[in-house]
Amino acid sequence: MNRLTLKLLKSRPLGLVYRPPRFGYSNVWVGAFPSWDAAMAAIPAGNPVGYNQEGAKKMFAGYPTSYVRPSDYAVVVHLRNALKAGSRVVDVGGSIGTAYYIAQKYFDLPDGLEWRIYDVPEVLEAGRQVAEREGEKSKSLSFIDKLTDAGTCDLFFSSGSLQLIKETLPTLLQKLPLLPQHVLINRIPVWDREAIVSLNDMGFSLAPYNIFNRKKWVDSVEALGYKLMDDWACPESQFVVRYQPKLRLNSYRGFYFLRNS
Ligand SMILES: C[S@@+](CC[C@H](N)C(=O)[O-])C[C@H]1O[C@@H](n2cnc3c(N)ncnc32)[C@H](O)[C@@H]1O
Repeated sequence: MNRLTLKLLKSRPLGLVYRPPRFGYSNVWVGAFPSWDAAMAAIPAGNPVGYNQEGAKKMFAGYPTSYVRPSDYAVVVHLRNALKAGSRVVDVGGSIGTAYYIAQKYFDLPDGLEWRIYDVPEVLEAGRQVAEREGEKSKSLSFIDKLTDAGTCDLFFSSGSLQLIKETLPTLLQKLPLLPQHVLINRIPVWDREAIVSLNDMGFSLAPYNIFNRKKWVDSVEALGYKLMDDWACPESQFVVRYQPKLRLNSYRGFYFLRNS
């Protein structure tokens, strides 16, 4: 092994193949709990919890709208195929709407598209700031802090967020007046082991963090009448529980489901 290889390996403490930039926040996981409530109970009293924080607002307000990660290409392909004139999208945990901006790099968004971002209030504030900065490019975006305000949607989108939300995907889908035809999920941690909930330490707060059992998670969506059409690797996203190196995932996954009513 030459010196350069040794240096590169040493610079990857998790031994992982791809290290994405972090845009100003740390990402560490601690503990493995059997449920969301058990993970919540392990958070020290007084510690900030979840994303509804000033720190999260600052982080997302400075997040680039043009940065494309490997799994975003699969998202762009499915968006391009699914979106039609007048389509309505709900983007759950959408923050500033990164996928909406990225899509515009690759194709013209259809006329009359409505893209609603559902998130926690502090992060929505960052989304509004970025939308103002982006001007015309953000014209199809709107922001909601109650999923029930999304109305009827053609496409349910979520990237990197379902792991941070207590409600299951079927519960979220059933909050909408009608089940959307398309469900496009990117960057979620799934494995073949039993599901666990860890705690994500983001520096500004701790948040319960779902690692899903792949089969049970896919079955739960298909039970609503969806069919899994595609899934892909998200090598930019990895997970390891601190001091428990066997509890690791070297790549998250993305999923596209279709429901023909
Ligand atoms: C890792 S970020 C992903 C952001 C964005 N979708 C992306 O791909 O860049 C997780 C997002 O989930 C949001 N989130 C966390 N808890 C939430 C909750 N209970 N309800 C709605 N959104 C939530 C966060 O505010 C944040 O925007």
